[in-house]
Amino acid sequence: MKPVEIAQGIYWVGAIDWNIRDFHGYSTYQGSTYNAFLIIDDQVTLIDTVKKEHADQLLANISELVDPKTIANVISNHTEMDHTGGLARIMHRVGEDKPLYCSKMGHKNLSLHFPQKWNYKPLEDGSELKIGKRTLAFMETRMLHWPDSMFTYAKEDKILFSSDAFGQHYAGLERFDDQMGDAIMPHAKKYFANILLPYSPLILKLVEKVKTMKLPMNMICPDHGIIWRKDPMKIIKAYVEWSEQKPGRKALVLYDTMWHSTETMAEVIAETLGEQGVDAKPMHLRSWHRSDVVTECLDAGAILIGSPTLNNGLFPTVSDVLTYLKGLKPLNKVSAAFGSYGWSGEAVKLITKELEEMKFKVIDPGLRIHYVPDNQGIEACRNLAGKIAAELPR
Ligand code: FEO
Repeated sequence: MKPVEIAQGIYWVGAIDWNIRDFHGYSTYQGSTYNAFLIIDDQVTLIDTVKKEHADQLLANISELVDPKTIANVISNHTEMDHTGGLARIMHRVGEDKPLYCSKMGHKNLSLHFPQKWNYKPLEDGSELKIGKRTLAFMETRMLHWPDSMFTYAKEDKILFSSDAFGQHYAGLERFDDQMGDAIMPHAKKYFANILLPYSPLILKLVEKVKTMKLPMNMICPDHGIIWRKDPMKIIKAYVEWSEQKPGRKALVLYDTMWHSTETMAEVIAETLGEQGVDAKPMHLRSWHRSDVVTECLDAGAILIGSPTLNNGLFPTVSDVLTYLKGLKPLNKVSAAFGSYGWSGEAVKLITKELEEMKFKVIDPGLRIHYVPDNQGIEACRNLAGKIAAELPR
């Protein structure tokens, strides 16, 4: 896709990755974009690059506007390789001696990724760079998404270049929120849940800091997906809501099954929760990708997890989702484990231990059913669902 002028003299020059379907374990079923921005001023300045495989597209876009050699400054807001994979080629074309601005941690991390002795200019939080009629201000945003992350703010244009924050994995010809409407929000929500969820407390602090600074914002330009120009506050408000993780009257019943007994339990539990006004969703873990599970988890107040016992342990899909969930540190969940077993029956105990380690409120020691649920077993599933429903907000 050709460059797009997003404001006078400021261009999107990034790359669209139409075909990526797995982004380090996240299902990007509608592709992604790697956004980079070129500011034409007295000192031509490039903000961020793209994944290595897309460096040609970035260079072609830059070359439509300027000779890459005329770029005076390169800014790297974040070291992760989806934004720096193309950096070596860019620096080679721009000039290896050109200043490369980044956070102090960015300097450290970039040096660990690239052997080149570039002309690093590590920035203090709050420092500024005059590039002509524009001033760029820098704000450290540690852990959003890596310790090196920072924002760049174009003061006169009131444009925030927000790196990973406020992004979405979405490949399309649209470049702006007003071209997408609300259809972009599920992508933004999934991105938040899978990338930024563990840093929710930091996001709330950051939003407070930005509010205090009273930064006017005409546009938010993340490094993935569309640019927020119609209503930048919409995504900020959504981030606050998602970061707060207020539990809803919603329950996920995550499970896998061997001979349908654990599945029967899951369906009875979900059905009973539904009868009690809970938005309950049974999710078979060989049908639902882990990244969609986590997205659903964002506003759920309860997570139930079921597994048969397989070779004295958990079903592999259940282990997978538990590992993934644990890393993303969701908050404010009530929980319980369930599952059928044949002889040893360790699975429920193993799940319960994981739930406790995740600091979920475990409201039952776990429901185990021997082989196949009979009437008594079905009743036990209904009772478990009732205990969960009683814990959820009305
Ligand atoms: Fe889009 Fe943390 O990289």
